[in-house]
Amino acid sequence: MRPKKLLIFAAMVAAIFFSGCNKETVIGLLMDSYETERWERDKDLFTAHVTELGGEVITDVANGDPAVQLQQARKMLESGIDALVIVAVDQNEAAKIVELAHKYNVKVLSYDRLIKNCDLDLYISFDNVEVGTLQADYLTSVCPQGNYALIGGAVTDNNSFLLKIGQMNVLQPLVERGDIRIVYDQFASRWTEEEGYRLMKECLELDQEVDAVIAGNDKLVTGALRAIHEKEIRTPYIAGQDAELLACQRIVGGEQTMTVYKPIEAIAAKAADFAMQLASGDKFTNLNLSVNNGKRMVPAVMLPPMIVNKETIRLTVVADGYLKENKIYE
Ligand code: GAL
Repeated sequence: MRPKKLLIFAAMVAAIFFSGCNKETVIGLLMDSYETERWERDKDLFTAHVTELGGEVITDVANGDPAVQLQQARKMLESGIDALVIVAVDQNEAAKIVELAHKYNVKVLSYDRLIKNCDLDLYISFDNVEVGTLQADYLTSVCPQGNYALIGGAVTDNNSFLLKIGQMNVLQPLVERGDIRIVYDQFASRWTEEEGYRLMKECLELDQEVDAVIAGNDKLVTGALRAIHEKEIRTPYIAGQDAELLACQRIVGGEQTMTVYKPIEAIAAKAADFAMQLASGDKFTNLNLSVNNGKRMVPAVMLPPMIVNKETIRLTVVADGYLKENKIYE
């Protein structure tokens, strides 16, 4: 072999040898979309924690399309990942991704949203029933009687139904007592401002007075408020979720009644830890919680959400460094 060729050959052998020795754990992270403020933060914190643990994260985002999410999963699995973390676009469709991952011997962690009817390995989220309970508890404490409108989250997301369970646990006895009437009750097709606007508009077209609105999240509240302002009616009591900056500004300004804060740092850190353990083959038989996804009892962790209103805003989102005080009160 000529000296130059020999050098190239030696370099190639060395590259293969060293990459084999130092193979980093690679975690695939599939996101739904970045439309809701929190998800960029979820991705960044998750990536930072995995990196701290010595792993590497590759990410893709499906922008709300379940078929695209499946394609992205296939590409990641072909590239050789060690574990897969999914924020599912669609709770049912994503089962195909779990099955595919298992064909590649890759374990799957369902992040924030449960994937239904498959052999999912692990699920981490907040207590979403509790989110709904906090919303309805607080709203009925400030508005114990009157007409309520429910604008649910995306129908493709299991969380929307869990929220509804929490809300109805509180509302149903009040409905039966005749204190509350539910005058509107619909789920959104997606978690977007546009959907909040469309549903609230539909609700107001029924020409009934609305005293309180419980919405799946703050994006839906933003859209709902647009429909309310257009109609030039008195702003009802209104609850959301996610502690988005705009929502917190509305809370201190008196336009939104409450939101629910879920510390993203906590879920991202725990998920990073779990993803690395899944990559090393852990089966998580030691968790004391499991959730039925329609096919199996999935080992699970659920973190507690917190209520945010005018009184608790400094003690929650500000104290946690989630949002800056001067931005909220700007
Ligand atoms: C849900 C999540 C909420 C909200 C929503 C829209 O699954 O629990 O916090 O972000 O998706 O993205």
